[in-house]
This record gives sequence, structure tokens and C-alpha cells, in this order.
Amino acid sequence: METVLSGIRATGRLHFGNFLGAVQNFVKFQQPGNTCLYFIADWHTLTTLDDPEELRGNLVEIVKDYIAAGLDPEQSIIYAQSSVPEISELCLYLSMIQPLGELERVPTFKDLVRKNPDNVNLGLVTYPVLMAADILGPKATLVPVGEDQVPNVEMARNIAGKFNKRFGNTFVVPEMMAQMIKVPGLDGAKMGKSEADNAIDINAPIEAIRERYLKKGITDRERLRVTDPGDPYNRCQSVYPVHELVTDGEIETREIANLCISAQIGCAACKHRLVDGIAKILEPFQERRARLANQNEYVKDVLHEGGKKARTRIKETTEQVRDRVGIVIY
Ligand code: ADP
Ligand code: TRP
Repeated sequence: METVLSGIRATGRLHFGNFLGAVQNFVKFQQPGNTCLYFIADWHTLTTLDDPEELRGNLVEIVKDYIAAGLDPEQSIIYAQSSVPEISELCLYLSMIQPLGELERVPTFKDLVRKNPDNVNLGLVTYPVLMAADILGPKATLVPVGEDQVPNVEMARNIAGKFNKRFGNTFVVPEMMAQMIKVPGLDGAKMGKSEADNAIDINAPIEAIRERYLKKGITDRERLRVTDPGDPYNRCQSVYPVHELVTDGEIETREIANLCISAQIGCAACKHRLVDGIAKILEPFQERRARLANQNEYVKDVLHEGGKKARTRIKETTEQVRDRVGIVIY
């Protein structure tokens, strides 16, 4: 019996890293007995995005991705962060017990500053505190995220512990997921929405994905000819590591690695096999996704109902927190 919670920012359309690292786990935890809350972090999006139309559009499209991936609005609470104003109130209370110095040292903050050097706004600094409010408000016990978000979840755990110590047991300290992954992009760096054109759009036609891997996917740079033995484990940057995540079974991935090491498969053939594996995952998703393409009204209903449900839960915590810190609404 877990309370599972996670969110994704509406900074762009979802890529395969989001899909494998986050959304697939959201679906996995949607099981009888678990309470699941999955949201779109539209306030967090504002730290780096200032195009209102894009934000509104991305939000609705990502909810369609959630549903097409297997999230069922009857089983999971799907909402927009901003539908629950109490989250920002919680963030305010939590910010009072969070030292600034720690926030400036969080790796995700440094990363965001590196990517947005001209806009180091206060929202970027308090990003993990708002994220803690997201997580602690519904008293989540489990937070499925990709590897890059570990420092932020760690911060939420810290804040919960600190608050409980100072004001008495109020928050649940959430667990980190056991295995988190980092899906590399075509250039070998973490696949990201905002990074240098290295992402695989989960809604792109499979043949376009194939072409992107064939043209841009970086493999073992020291393997100059097909007859040279490759080193899939240490030198292949964007293809073998993804095989390990999508290709069925350990035996099959070992077989691919051995074919590369013994120079029996070339990089292009290996890329074809990878994309065949990706297609097996994405084709059923894309079929369901196509049926949602014109369902904006349905998505709005889902968000409206989800927002109400999330708010009820989070309001309860907010009232407790107000009471603990001494705030009375007159
Ligand atoms: P992005 O990093 O592309 O801007 P987000 O920050 O909104 O995307 O991430 C949403 C979720 O997807 C988070 O749980 C994050 O850890 C996960 N995620 C993003 N990129 C990857 C990746 N390359 N591999 C694994 N998980 C990822
Ligand atoms: N920071 C997360 C990301 O960039 C998104 C997010 C916001 C989140 N609030 C959250 C994830 C709460 C998990 C739990 O991916």
C-alpha cells in the first residue's frame, strides 16, 4: 500500500527518457491498493519557460501521453500543480526551515543555472522546496523519478525530517525508488527536452526515430571498420546502453554485446535492432495516443476532477501544517 506521487514539467513534449525513466514506472505502480497522484508541474515550468501558449499546450499534450501510456483517470489522480493553491502555501512554510546555502549547492540548481545563465530567478533556487511541497502535501510514500531527480527527492526527505523534528510528526518521509535510470540521448549525454537536440520524441513516427538513430546516434568512436571489435560496455554512448533498457531479457542483450565485441554486427545493424525494440514499446502507445489527439475537452475534465481530488488530500495536510506553525485563518 503506497501513496505514489510524481510530476513532469511542461517544458516541451515528452521524450523516450521521460517515458522509460518516469512514465513507465507511473503505470507500473498504478495497482489496486496504491493511491497514485501524477501531475504536471506547471509552476516549476515557469522557472525556465515564458511562453504562455506553449505552457498551456504542452500541459494538455502531456496528459494525453500519460493516458495513452496507461494511466487511468479512474485509478490515478491526474492534475495540474496549479489546481492546488495549497501547494504554494506549503512551499512558503517549508521555505522558512530551509537554509539558502543548501539550495545553492543542489546539483539540479547548478545545472539549471548553467542552462539559463541569463535568468537565475528566485524560482530556480526554491525549486526543490516547491517540489518538497508537491511530495509532502499528499504524504507520498514513494516518488518514481529518473536518476537526475535524486538530489531533489533527497531534499524533500530532509525537509520532512527537519519539520517533523521541530514541530512534531506531521509529514511522511518518502522512500526513494530502488532503481532509477538515466536514458542517454543521441549524443550520449542524458536525453533531455531542453538539451541540444539529443532526444527521441515518443510521438515521432518509428521511421523518423530510425533515421535519427542512424544519422545521429553516437556509438563506439574507436571502432572505425565493421571488422574492428567494438566495446559496447564502455565506449558505445547512445545505442548499447539503450539496448540494456529496452531489449527483452539479459540473454538477448548479452548476445548483442557479444556480436559487437566479436565484430559480427555493425553499428547500423545494431541501431536497426534497437529501433525495432523501441517500436515494440512505442507502437501500442502511439495507437492509443492517436485516438486522444482531438480529446482536449476530455483532458480538461480529467484535470478538473483530478485537481479536486488532489486538493482535498493536500488541504488536509495544509491545515495540519498551519496549526503546527501557529497560523490561524481568521
Ligand atoms: P527533462 O529533463 O527532459 O526536462 P523533466 O525534467 O520534466 O524532463 O523530467 C521528467 C521526469 O523524467 C523526471 O522524473 C526525470 O527524472 C525523468 N527523466 C528526464 N530525462 C530522463 C532521462 N534521460 N532518463 C531517465 N529519466 C529521465
Ligand atoms: N523536478 C521534476 C523534474 O524536473 C518535476 C517535479 C516537480 C517532480 N515536482 C515533483 C517530480 C514532485 C517528482 C515529485 O522532472
